[in-house]
Amino acid sequence: MCGIIGIVGQSNVADRLVDGLKRMEYRGYDSAGIATLEDGEISRRRSPGKLNKLGAVLEQKPLHGHTGIGHTRWATHGAPTECNAHPHATARVAIVHNGIIENFRELKSELEAKGHSFESETDSEVAAHLVTDLMGQGLAPDEAAKQAVARLTGAYSIAMIFKDHEGLLVGARKGAPLAVGHADTEAYIGSDAFALAPFTNRVTYLEEGDVVVIRGPQVSIFDAAGRPANREIKITTASAALVDKAGHSHFMAKEIHEQPEVVGHTLAHYLDPAGPVVRRLGVGLRPALAKASRLTISACGTAFYAGMVGKYWFEKLGRIAVEIDVASELRYRDPVYPDHGVALFVSQSGETADTLAALRDAKAKGQTTIAVVNVAESSIAREADIVLPTYAGPEIGVASTKAFTCQLAALASFAIAAGVARGHLSAEDEKKLCASLLETPRHIAEFLKQEPAIKLVAEEIAKARDVLYMGRGPSYPLALEGALKLKEISYIHAEGYAAGEMKHGPIALIDEAVPIIVIAPHDHHFEKTISNMQEVMARGGKVLLISDREGIEKAGKVWASIEVPTTNAFITPLLYAIPVQLLAYYAAIAKGTDVDQPRNLAKSVTVE
Ligand code: F6R
Repeated sequence: MCGIIGIVGQSNVADRLVDGLKRMEYRGYDSAGIATLEDGEISRRRSPGKLNKLGAVLEQKPLHGHTGIGHTRWATHGAPTECNAHPHATARVAIVHNGIIENFRELKSELEAKGHSFESETDSEVAAHLVTDLMGQGLAPDEAAKQAVARLTGAYSIAMIFKDHEGLLVGARKGAPLAVGHADTEAYIGSDAFALAPFTNRVTYLEEGDVVVIRGPQVSIFDAAGRPANREIKITTASAALVDKAGHSHFMAKEIHEQPEVVGHTLAHYLDPAGPVVRRLGVGLRPALAKASRLTISACGTAFYAGMVGKYWFEKLGRIAVEIDVASELRYRDPVYPDHGVALFVSQSGETADTLAALRDAKAKGQTTIAVVNVAESSIAREADIVLPTYAGPEIGVASTKAFTCQLAALASFAIAAGVARGHLSAEDEKKLCASLLETPRHIAEFLKQEPAIKLVAEEIAKARDVLYMGRGPSYPLALEGALKLKEISYIHAEGYAAGEMKHGPIALIDEAVPIIVIAPHDHHFEKTISNMQEVMARGGKVLLISDREGIEKAGKVWASIEVPTTNAFITPLLYAIPVQLLAYYAAIAKGTDVDQPRNLAKSVTVE
């Protein structure tokens, strides 16, 4: 998703703007640009493609100036061309924008009628012309910016600099995050604290509707009603060091390998190994769980599949009715929320627009809202009643891996607590389940040793045009996750199915050219899944079976198999996620795709 950076500095800012943008590369983008004030004049450099292309442009034509803005764009309105890249500028103002301006068509017609001419296909450019128009009516730049922002509808954040106004930077937040960085002689604006980390750890998160006016290092914030607002300065923990791949070829590989450690950190937060028991949950969560009439779960993409696994756990361990839907549907469905309902939202970034909107709707309708999030300072974390953090650390690869397993670790701990709070699990049950969970990091580490063998199978899978995944029970969401992972980074068409659904249609797709990945832990679903697998093999299907030793032995001859350590059935989703990730990773490597930044995808989806 787009990234914004702005600096009012004491020295040339171009290099630092590009550095800030580099730190937001993980969000996904397809063009980039910066603008500075050179002797009071707006100068900009833009380029389609990655930041190295912008770097090459800057090498040819360097930019000077102490005040500037920068942007990485993930195309929404208009292709990723130089002309559509930000900053957008008129003779008087340059702006960078993240999100969508919904009323841009009306505003554009109005401004065109007044003689403004537009050069891009973007919605963003309208903001530059609107500010210019208001300045033309005699308004000071900051006042023009405030009035312009008040006319924009949609969910966005924005930053701007003005011709002849050295040291002035204005930003606004409405629906998409924007942070302000403070230093003694400089000030900054960024889409997240991570972008600002090389410059400062003193950060203010703007609230909805806020406008920030920076003059030199002086920062003034105004609320949605235009009143001066006092916003807290927080000391962030975002690391100033540029995250590196730690010897791995890709962030995704590094993040897959970090899982024993980060799943361990997440479990350490929730479980007391001395019991073992669930020790830490958000204040007020146990009573809310005890009387909850229903649990609504919502999220997007991989986070949604984590929520789906959670559904099986909450129903089985907590005996609680669960409703689950993707956030983009739930928010518009007008769902019926019960009294004493609890609504759970899962998000790595904590900024996903649909998940945030679904959370706000559930909160407005009286639900106790709980968020499983990886970014502690994110909007979802700040707005939920109770936060259940995950400790995956920054996830840079666009395809979620370690965040998923950490979400599962948090959800599993939470489901055990729900079972105890609702009187369905005894102290003995709690101990056993927690003990199994605590073994997960060790099992993941052990399993990772099989990486070379998985690479070989993945190279075969990479030759297919279509791949199917199937599983039952909690392995069904893993089948969906496996298919999502494969398609998003290798661009191979893949679908996940509940194993029992195969003969209701998808089995028609089976032939020798379609590998079927069967996720079948040796649990109480095993026999049924294996029957479905046999049906597929009887029709020529080429099966890759993922199971433990006993499962593989019982299943008989298959095209290929991956052996996962034998564990308590409860924790299999955490473990079986790893082969699914590695298969996708090595299939993508075999296809030569851009694993960390696959085409068309963004890391943090802040538009709906
Ligand atoms: C897939 C992936 C996405 C995200 C989804 C939600 O690998 O990463 O499907 O899971 O966009 O994002 P968050 O978790 O940030 O809300």
